[in-house]
Amino acid sequence: MSDPSAERRAPRAARAADREPLPVKVLRHGSSADAARAVAQEVVALVAERPTAVLGLATGGTMVEIYAACVERAASEGVSFDRVRTFNLDEYVGPVAPERTFRAYMEEHFFGPFGIEPGPHAFPDAARAATDALGAARAYEDAIGRAGGIDLQLLGIGRNGHVAFNEPPASASSRTRVVELDAVTRADAGAAFGGVERVPARAITVGLATILEARRVRLVAFGASKAPAVERALLGPVTGTLPASLLRGHADVSFVLDAGAASGLG
Ligand code: PGA
Repeated sequence: MSDPSAERRAPRAARAADREPLPVKVLRHGSSADAARAVAQEVVALVAERPTAVLGLATGGTMVEIYAACVERAASEGVSFDRVRTFNLDEYVGPVAPERTFRAYMEEHFFGPFGIEPGPHAFPDAARAATDALGAARAYEDAIGRAGGIDLQLLGIGRNGHVAFNEPPASASSRTRVVELDAVTRADAGAAFGGVERVPARAITVGLATILEARRVRLVAFGASKAPAVERALLGPVTGTLPASLLRGHADVSFVLDAGAASGLG
């Protein structure tokens, strides 16, 4: 496991002048495997303490390692995820092959390995969103509210600083809605879809306000390609042009980084 002395806080001097953001815990690990184990330890401890915990879940390459570590840790600790409730951040809207949906990703990396079924509101309703964006958005916010809110929200970060599909420019007061995907996001998804032109143009995503209401937020970033976005999120101004910087308004947020992702922080 990584050295606990690696825990740092973003320098005060770097905070935006127009607003005094709260300090962000920055947890730097030597490797993504160490970082994943640390995140898994927290997730599994939460579920051990509260078997019906409400988890906010993300997709993407980073989370593959996180979920594998969660499955391993839960097994070694004998912690059951049978009763957890989950809400994923987003889903593509439009014609998407079933195996490319985030539901399929979650089956492969989370629900399947844990041997559990997703709940009825585990994902925003992308099919409904195609014709009734407002209805689908409201239904998802309502479902999260009925569950009592998110206990722990996992997040990745895009190279453009997006969290979920809150593309720049994003607003801290944004709620679940249908969005147009940014060119950077579509380019990064291109490999999985066999070409950028096959990546859907739209998605339904929770908003920054939805994310900021979670009781704990854990953003995870691996690799040097994320370093510029991480650096701007932590040391640049708090601004919707770098959506992850808006997390600095949250009372319990950590950035969990491997050496590559932390390489711009000095
Ligand atoms: P990644 O995506 O984990 O595949 O890098 C993260 C994100 O875009 O939020």
